[in-house]
Amino acid sequence: MYILGIESSCDETAAAVLEDGRKVLSNVINTQIDLHKKYGGVVPEIASRKHIESIDAVIDEALERAGKRLGDMDAIAVTYGPGLVGALLVGVSAAKALAYAAEKPLVPVHHIKGHIMANFLSHPGLEPPFVCLVASGGHSHIVEVKDYTEFEIIARTRDDAAGEAFDKIARVLGLGYPGGPLIDALAKEGDAEAVSFPRVRFDKNCLDFSFSGVKTAVINYLHKAEQRGESINKADIAASFQAAVIDVLCGHTIEAALKSNINTIAVAGGVASNSELRKRIRESGEERNIRVFYPEPVFCTDNAAMIACAGYYGYLKGDFADLTLNAAANLPL
Ligand code: KG4
Ligand code: ZN
Repeated sequence: MYILGIESSCDETAAAVLEDGRKVLSNVINTQIDLHKKYGGVVPEIASRKHIESIDAVIDEALERAGKRLGDMDAIAVTYGPGLVGALLVGVSAAKALAYAAEKPLVPVHHIKGHIMANFLSHPGLEPPFVCLVASGGHSHIVEVKDYTEFEIIARTRDDAAGEAFDKIARVLGLGYPGGPLIDALAKEGDAEAVSFPRVRFDKNCLDFSFSGVKTAVINYLHKAEQRGESINKADIAASFQAAVIDVLCGHTIEAALKSNINTIAVAGGVASNSELRKRIRESGEERNIRVFYPEPVFCTDNAAMIACAGYYGYLKGDFADLTLNAAANLPL
């Protein structure tokens, strides 16, 4: 079975072809990062316009690299939310047009479920149930993946997403955009214990996240140092900030697995490519006999292979959309 996946929810125009749900035949990603860099974040109107310009070529290339034609596909899977509505509309419109023209079923995919499914691409043996930490630029959730299409949210962020905090701190440190990979690299040269930034825990029964406090604490620290004319060591700040975020992400996820009596954890979303997070969560898991999986970095950030994978399981369940499918900026998991 062949599925064409299409993704355009943020600043990556992507298309991919999968065979039997897990074998990636092609995975084309046209990133717009360079366009948004000078604004320090994604500009929605620019993103939509760029998606329109590149989506046809990206889809053609995905089919070509897979050595397939549209007629060979069994279904077309597309991200319809959550995300930037104008950006999402481009992928949804393209998918609807192709499904109509080629008379193929259309499978709607939730972007966050796609991120979770990325783990199946990198680990053919992985099966539910498992606990998944999803940390991206827009979301931070701990999800119990009960089955391929059944998910339950255990915890969520009450304010900022983890990736959003990485991006903001990178900006105030003058590192650039997107911040995650830049902080990840700089933190390797710093001392994670140089400054103790807050780790928020609401109460002992609640695993929800909050990252706005640590973000503000770093900004205040930098302002105070500037007012006093003190020089700061950016690598130490990056490492200390990253440690605060990772402590909470890892700690809460391990606790969620222990509470649910599940001995498998997966990590997903852009922040899942963070080298220190990967190391820490695997070490903490090993100490408690919990297996920890994470996708290869290319499947952590936005891509369409993960969308095609989710589309495959949606197809098996008969979860199809008709041509009235619309983009949804906000979409519950
Ligand atoms: O999943 P993604 O590509 O897009 C969303 O759906 O949001 O995630 C992008 C986010 C950005 O905030 C980026 O800074 C963060 O993931 N990110 C990282 C790393 N690579 C990407 N954060 C920490 N460490 C990284 N290595
Ligand atoms: Zn994403």
